[in-house]
Amino acid sequence: MTTTIGRVRKAVLPVAGLGTRVLPGTKTTPKELLNVVDRPILSYIAEEAREAGIEHIVFVTGRSKQAIEDYFDHQIELEAQLAAKGKTDILATMNAELARPGEMSFTRQMQPKGLGHAVWCARDIVGPEPFAVLLPDVIVDSQPGALKQLIDVYNEVGGNIIGVEAVPDSETHKYGVVDPADPSDGGERQGRRIGMKGMVEKPPQGTAPSNLAISGRYILQPEIFDLLTDQTAGAGGEIQLTDAMARLMTDQSFTAVEYAGVTHDCGDKIGLLRANVALALKRPDLGAAARAAVEKLL
Ligand code: G1P
Repeated sequence: MTTTIGRVRKAVLPVAGLGTRVLPGTKTTPKELLNVVDRPILSYIAEEAREAGIEHIVFVTGRSKQAIEDYFDHQIELEAQLAAKGKTDILATMNAELARPGEMSFTRQMQPKGLGHAVWCARDIVGPEPFAVLLPDVIVDSQPGALKQLIDVYNEVGGNIIGVEAVPDSETHKYGVVDPADPSDGGERQGRRIGMKGMVEKPPQGTAPSNLAISGRYILQPEIFDLLTDQTAGAGGEIQLTDAMARLMTDQSFTAVEYAGVTHDCGDKIGLLRANVALALKRPDLGAAARAAVEKLL
């Protein structure tokens, strides 16, 4: 069993998805750029990655996703107008989000072949080093951020780390689900860490090995790319990251981490609505007004 602890410098964000669950809003706007309160979903994800010490973000994009690259670049005319009007606060907020020189790469997944295929598209940019994956329709509201929590565990145990959250049994078929190791086999839970003996993508209802769903935050060793190269299609006819990870488990250690925080699936109508309400309620500048507005509706 190999256990490697190299520094995690790069993060892969697969942003090629079509956002079909929130159409027609995503017909011309990438779902990752839909607003939650007053900034795009992707802004929260980039913040989480940077807070965790990520130095380079690799976006795996698709057709009609150019706006994502533009979001992290200057908007000269807009910035000039804001400056002329003395709107320095919002200018500072926008400037803080800009890509630092060389911080971001963009590569395309030209066919929707699944999450495993999307991650594989980043192989040459990531190279032979451990890396993070953040699914960009999942905002985790936590302090510290979910990826930082995973990296803290990784720095102690190395190998591969999978972020999980407990979901109702009736929901497990929508996710990758981890199979916790038996306590007799080192699988006892240590705080938020859970030893693993397997995982399965979208198990049919009633067959899930646990209710611990893979929620969209990973730290992976680069050997996953070799396995993704010949990974055959799995659940939904797609090349699944979960299937390649399950194969990598025969050689490398995997640890599940049930991070502290609230997970919002923003790729879903109600999840997106809930994220907007929850995050507005927590904002010092908007919380009271948001509460009053919600209470009035109820
Ligand atoms: C993907 C992963 C799955 C994970 C889920 C989290 O599935 O394949 O393992 O549980 O994201 O949102 P998708 O939602 O893209 O079908």
